[in-house]
Amino acid sequence: MDIESAVSKIRRAFEIDLQTASSVKEIEELKIRYLGRKGALQDLMQKLREEASERRPYVGKLINELKLEIEALLDGAVRKFEDRELEGRLLREGVDVTLPGRRRFLGRRHVTLSVLDEALDLLVGMGFAVQYGPDIDSDYYNFEALNFAKDHPARDMQDTFYISADVVLRTHTSNTQVRVMEAYKPPIRVVMPGTCYRNEDVSARSHVVFHQIEGLYIDRGVTFSDLLVTLEEFFTKFFGRDIEMRFRPSYFPFVEPGMEVDVRCIVCEGGGCGVCKRTGWLEVAGAGIVHPEVLKSGGIDAEEYTGYAWGFGIERLTMLRYGVSDIRNFFIDDFRFLQQF
Ligand code: PHE
Repeated sequence: MDIESAVSKIRRAFEIDLQTASSVKEIEELKIRYLGRKGALQDLMQKLREEASERRPYVGKLINELKLEIEALLDGAVRKFEDRELEGRLLREGVDVTLPGRRRFLGRRHVTLSVLDEALDLLVGMGFAVQYGPDIDSDYYNFEALNFAKDHPARDMQDTFYISADVVLRTHTSNTQVRVMEAYKPPIRVVMPGTCYRNEDVSARSHVVFHQIEGLYIDRGVTFSDLLVTLEEFFTKFFGRDIEMRFRPSYFPFVEPGMEVDVRCIVCEGGGCGVCKRTGWLEVAGAGIVHPEVLKSGGIDAEEYTGYAWGFGIERLTMLRYGVSDIRNFFIDDFRFLQQF
């Protein structure tokens, strides 16, 4: 028999064998019978050696094609059986692979932090650099350098968590003001975000932990009107609209004059709601002209330079923006609340 006929004969025989194979195991056996060391294709290789040398490339190609074809068909058959087996198992186990998957819960940024980031972006856009100070700080930076004398009654304004007689959890981000003055020469134009702590009764409007962004601008000839326009620009940008503001004179030892800043409650448009405690206004910041004593603490010549400072409460801004009437929501990790943002 010539080798062409032998090739076709093996091909036909293989096709019949493949059709009757009914399991992965039988396919494996076919593989050995046709492609194995003593298999049908090896016999053909034997015959190849007996061919005349000019016919060998042609015959070799025929045999190789058959080999590739058999391999491909065997692979396909194995896959078919495996798929069937899996299908059978899924059916037996009652698994429906066409059901939509279950969504995994993905974490996200806390609303307080995203509002803080957004506010920082705006302030950086307005020319401020960002500086960070410590949450645990000395009495000196939190109070004394800010013109709170040791027995100053204003210390009672801020119920302080003491770590030791001289170390406190900062009650405000103002603790970073003098640190920045010590590290840089004017002009200084920085914002200082951070967490603050006060030993107060927790209520709908105040918490023992909250966040502030401190602002500080020191240069020659800085005035109160610089402070007012900057605050106005920031709040307009932050709320995305003109917002009515109210400035009330107030006392902080580290500014003179000092004030508190209220913004019109945009939840009720001044009509009175839970967010503004029915007053139509929400206090969002303390601010003022930096006290000469504070400049002195920071090693800055108060004759030559003036400055302004402010501190915003981030939770307050967030409450106003989203109409949240209870500050405690930001701290109880209730997904139903947090997922809204
Ligand atoms: N540190 C003040 C507070 O927490 C706010 C403030 C900052 C006031 C800067 C004036 C100037 O209440």
